[in-house]
Amino acid sequence: MNILEYRIPHQTVDFLLENFSGRPEEVQVLDVACGSGWVANLMVELGFKHFVGVDGSQGMLDQAAKTGLYKELKLALLGTEPLPARTGVFDVVMIVGALRPGFVPVSVIRELCLAAKPGGYVCMSRNGLESESGNEYKVSLEAELQLMEEEGLWSHVTTKETDRYMIDMYKYCDGVQSDKYSHGTMYLYRKARQ
Ligand SMILES: C[S@@+](CC[C@H](N)C(=O)[O-])C[C@H]1O[C@@H](n2cnc3c(N)ncnc32)[C@H](O)[C@@H]1O
Repeated sequence: MNILEYRIPHQTVDFLLENFSGRPEEVQVLDVACGSGWVANLMVELGFKHFVGVDGSQGMLDQAAKTGLYKELKLALLGTEPLPARTGVFDVVMIVGALRPGFVPVSVIRELCLAAKPGGYVCMSRNGLESESGNEYKVSLEAELQLMEEEGLWSHVTTKETDRYMIDMYKYCDGVQSDKYSHGTMYLYRKARQ
């Protein structure tokens, strides 16, 4: 049961697929903040086979291990520890459900780009929390994405808004029925070939 109607893994994987033309079975995927492995579970249905996962919670990694989909699973609290992944080797780097205040800080975005191979994709989704910290996070994230483009590290492929990231408990408890969801944004960047 998905009480919070957490839909963003499906939406982000669809978003990637709409813009990706490689052969899924050959693709090396780095699933950052992989949680219980939902993203890999969706991607494997689409023919992807090679996954490395990273998360800051050993409990989540234990759940992810039970899927049997990940070649490697690594524990790291990102922002305080470096991303434990080889640099320049991943065709696709995914980060779903973790770009929000208190989770993965914006400083980690550069490490995602570093892990991608030249020409590889970095696919991200952000929870559009309607709070001061949520707005600050958005401004800071989007400034970093743009700065990295100006530095020639990657190019912007596309961005898509979603109005159904998951149920927003604040709105839900306030009885807002017209729009009880938090919104979100998905971003796709392609690392420079250099
Ligand atoms: C909402 S879950 C998303 C999991 C998965 N990507 C999905 O969409 O189902 C957020 C995950 O981010 C992880 N996380 C949050 N902050 C983190 C950090 N600083 N470093 C590593 N993992 C973090 C949590 O442990 C949790 O597994």
